[in-house]
Amino acid sequence: MAKIKHSVYTSHVPAIGAALDLGKHTEPYWKKVFDGYEFSKQWEQENKPDVIILVYNDHANNFSLDLIPTFALGTGASFEPSDEGWGKRPVPTVQGHPELAAHIAHSVIQDDFDLTLCNKMEVDHGLTVPLSLMFGQVEQWPCPVIPLHVNVVQYPAPSGQRCLDLGRAIGRAVASYDEDLNVQIWGTGGMSHQLQGPRAGLINAQWDNEFLDRLIADPDALARVPHIDYVREAGSEGIELVMWLVARGAMNPHVDVRHRFYHVPASNTAVGHLILENKETA
Ligand code: DHB
Ligand code: FE
Repeated sequence: MAKIKHSVYTSHVPAIGAALDLGKHTEPYWKKVFDGYEFSKQWEQENKPDVIILVYNDHANNFSLDLIPTFALGTGASFEPSDEGWGKRPVPTVQGHPELAAHIAHSVIQDDFDLTLCNKMEVDHGLTVPLSLMFGQVEQWPCPVIPLHVNVVQYPAPSGQRCLDLGRAIGRAVASYDEDLNVQIWGTGGMSHQLQGPRAGLINAQWDNEFLDRLIADPDALARVPHIDYVREAGSEGIELVMWLVARGAMNPHVDVRHRFYHVPASNTAVGHLILENKETA
């Protein structure tokens, strides 16, 4: 049977991708960010996934105000990087896993979550920057990736509780897939940041670190935090953090922390990163 043992959480700042693509990652400003992922790249070599379910948000590159799916699953065979205004990032095409994606769609929709299914979609920095951080500059991504887009750009965004519950449904779906696959689930976006208005540049390191503590130890309580708290405490784009609850929901209640990293600044954003492993409880 397929199994989720590990989840990965990381911010997705577009300038991180640009730093790597333009060869600036060894400059002191960026080195401090990339150093936090050195452990993770090694860890990925030792814990190679067969498939990654990557929970992320599109930033009006594939979707737009014309069409706003709350949850959209990538069921296609492959996904090209978006041109976000500077040409496509020079990263590999993302290969999907249509069979597992179709199984997840069937299971999760029958479990009362109304997913949008995308046989054709492009993926922006929300998906490609986390892959670059965890795998570096590669000719091919090391495994298939199933994109799961969450709308956090245009209100109303889904609640923390809805995200946690969707993660639990995805966990059940994966556990009922009849092939031995080591599946990782990633939650991406955040941490605190605000890109516009009088509070542009807002960072709240204390709130971010409490979010990490609660995600690890008490995701049920964290899921009850209302959107207004994210916006007030973590800035208008801090709402991206609700996506981390999808990945956490697919994990066991009790987890071990394999890696934790927090760094400010990276562009306008606080970078947070976790690798969690399920405790094998009865
Ligand atoms: C930045 C962060 C984001 O999450 C994003 O989508 C765009 C820009 C930034 O820090 O610059
Ligand atoms: Fe973003």
